[in-house]
Amino acid sequence: MSDPTTSELLAARPHLAMHAMDGLLLEGVPLAAIAREVGTPCWVYGVGTIRARYAALSRALAGLDAHLHYAVKANDHLAVLRVLGALGAGADVVSEGELLRARAAGIAAGRIVFSGVGKTERELRRALDEGIAQVNVESAEELAMLSGLATAAGRVASVALRVNPDIDAGTHPKITTGIAHNKFGIPLGEAAHLYRHAASLPGIAPVGIALHIGSQILAAAPYRAAFARAAELVRGLRAAGLAVGSVDCGGGLGIPYRDEIPVSPEAFAGAIRATLGGLGLRLLVEPGRWLVGPAGVLLASVILEKQGAARILVLDAAMNELIRPAMYDAWHGIVPVSAADAVRPVSPADVVGPVCESADTFARSRLLPPLAAKACVAILDAGAYGAVMSSTYNSRPLAAQVLVHGERWAVIRERQKPADLWAGEHIPPSLMQVE
Ligand SMILES: Cc1ncc(COP(=O)(O)O)c(C=O)c1O
Repeated sequence: MSDPTTSELLAARPHLAMHAMDGLLLEGVPLAAIAREVGTPCWVYGVGTIRARYAALSRALAGLDAHLHYAVKANDHLAVLRVLGALGAGADVVSEGELLRARAAGIAAGRIVFSGVGKTERELRRALDEGIAQVNVESAEELAMLSGLATAAGRVASVALRVNPDIDAGTHPKITTGIAHNKFGIPLGEAAHLYRHAASLPGIAPVGIALHIGSQILAAAPYRAAFARAAELVRGLRAAGLAVGSVDCGGGLGIPYRDEIPVSPEAFAGAIRATLGGLGLRLLVEPGRWLVGPAGVLLASVILEKQGAARILVLDAAMNELIRPAMYDAWHGIVPVSAADAVRPVSPADVVGPVCESADTFARSRLLPPLAAKACVAILDAGAYGAVMSSTYNSRPLAAQVLVHGERWAVIRERQKPADLWAGEHIPPSLMQVE
């Protein structure tokens, strides 16, 4: 099947539009103006888009006692966290850094849950000190560790046991988390025993169970199957006299990068209603990608077009900015920013970055118009798992980040300066002597 055209990509993304004079707009802002003033590569996120998506997901969940805990890992910028926190979102964090970011952005500790297969003692102590809502415990070993730390601190940790429901989410193997052989969660068969054990441990108050079966999930069926297993577990625990007040349903809602038709928020909510809905549970959901992915683009400029066996467009953005194509073979739309460029006849081109890896390839045989040096393109749907996964590989400074709101915009992260690249490095004279 052929790739969607620029017009098709834009038609499916209401926050993007091609203006005859100003070129590609994100919400009301010409991306060319941002590229001109801030330079490229540069991330741009739309506040209005994030808000609209949050509202759509909240609407779909209406009627359930459901609480959104934004998965900070998807995009951890303080301004993004502030926008979501102000809408009422809590946070799902997986490290001390994310916990402190969420707090710094104004998200109350009582609205933070801590997930992750390997929390350190220091991280658990910090979670206890902050008084967060819940720790999602992933093993018997972690439960023992938390019990010891909570007792020593004179606190009681609210705990959900993260179970592994052994359901294939049908997504990329690198982001599947709910199959038995994945490292995540407690095997379903051991969960009841561990829950009872948790109830007997000092410093631990088991409040519910949690699950998260993967990311970029496109179908409702795996959710329904996983939630049905969670419901069965809840009923079993209650029948055994154990109190279960909540289920954390995880995140994972997919978005269309190319032309996928992902599970809708309504179908996701329907899967929850059909399985967990009648159990009088407090429900948590942890979406990341769905809220912020479509709201962001990565702006890049053409360095040169190289003629070889194929047409090769070399951009100034690379895999160290957006690693998803290299890591997951992910497809991202690439759209010219200039309206004049966008209407010229297209031909296939490989789109690559300057990093010294063949994996540094954004697209192969992508139909694009001729693009002169310095022409700007927008790599779409880069708001999630974009900047957060950036590195400085090849000593490339971290790119600037910009937030757009209506027709206004502001830089929310300065481009890293070259000298920042080696800040904190030392050349110890005593070790430099030549023997
Ligand atoms: C425990 C947990 N919750 C939520 C998420 C968010 O996933 P997504 O961004 O796909 O919604 C993840 C990401 O993998 C996760 O590990």
